[in-house]
Amino acid sequence: MTAIINREVCTACGICGKVCPRHIPVVTGEGERKATVFSAERAELCLDCGHCAAVCPADAIKIPAFGDISLSPIGQVEIDEDRLLTLLRQRRSVRRYLDRPVPRQSIDRMIDAARCSPTGTGEMTTGVIVIDDTRVLESLSEHIYKMYEDLEKALANPVARFFIKRQGGEKSLRVLQDFVMPGMHWYIRWYREGKSNEILRDCPALMLFHSPVFEPSGEENCLLAAFHAVMMAQTMDMGTCLNGLIPPVFKRVPEARELIKLPEDREVHASITLGYPKYPFKRIVPRDLAQVRYLASAPEM
Ligand SMILES: Cc1cc2nc3c(=O)[nH]c(=O)nc-3n(C[C@H](O)[C@H](O)[C@H](O)COP(=O)(O)O)c2cc1C
Repeated sequence: MTAIINREVCTACGICGKVCPRHIPVVTGEGERKATVFSAERAELCLDCGHCAAVCPADAIKIPAFGDISLSPIGQVEIDEDRLLTLLRQRRSVRRYLDRPVPRQSIDRMIDAARCSPTGTGEMTTGVIVIDDTRVLESLSEHIYKMYEDLEKALANPVARFFIKRQGGEKSLRVLQDFVMPGMHWYIRWYREGKSNEILRDCPALMLFHSPVFEPSGEENCLLAAFHAVMMAQTMDMGTCLNGLIPPVFKRVPEARELIKLPEDREVHASITLGYPKYPFKRIVPRDLAQVRYLASAPEM
């Protein structure tokens, strides 16, 4: 549903239309008769992103989807680029956790951060499931290891390998064979010997990010929401690790879906293990992108 304009205060400055991704508000008329109206042709395209209401100098716009709340003003934030960069540099994946529960209040703050992550379509369709019950985490571990054990057996069989490739494509077969399974071989062994759990890593809590099966950018949305949560955890001295080995279990194992009560029309795309770091990092190691370059001028054709 589109926004509602308070004509008493609207000055028809047109800024709302300029920031709207679909240019739905438009200014009509001249002089005294100038007014902001919503394009009838594009009203249906409104994403309820709220940019028009957030930018309006006269606070003249209400978004019905937000309910009857007054929007908080934008304030000065006590963070500069050096502090943000330090926070980003200091974040590392934490894979060993203290045997100490994570307060739900802290998880709620992480969820607050996830709420304001960007989304591909402008609509927030991402959902979060938090598991902080050890017994549920143990049951989930069983499903995950069983799935990878079955996969290891299947990959040893040329016929099964052919079908895995046909279903997931060459890239996913290669990722499994060259990256995932060589390490997984040991993870399974250590888990079955009762030595360690290198997938869930005995984390006190796990967050799963899911989105509708037909969401155009479900995977990206879930990863961005997860990363917002990761950075919030960093401010609270908690450790996190994004985990790509966990989401596939909810695609392949119905019992795992049942365990987390995942509706049929949703998929888990991202997961993070979290807790207090057992071995806090003491130093920052250098890290870089593979390549950085500016294209200063168009190359000659
Ligand atoms: C999409 C994604 C999936 C990941 N999956 C795993 C995983 O399954 N297990 C794990 O230990 N780390 C996982 N990681 C963490 C990476 O290994 C880690 O980010 C990388 O090695 C860089 O280290 P840092 O996070 O400490 O900077 C994942 C990271 C990303 C972005």
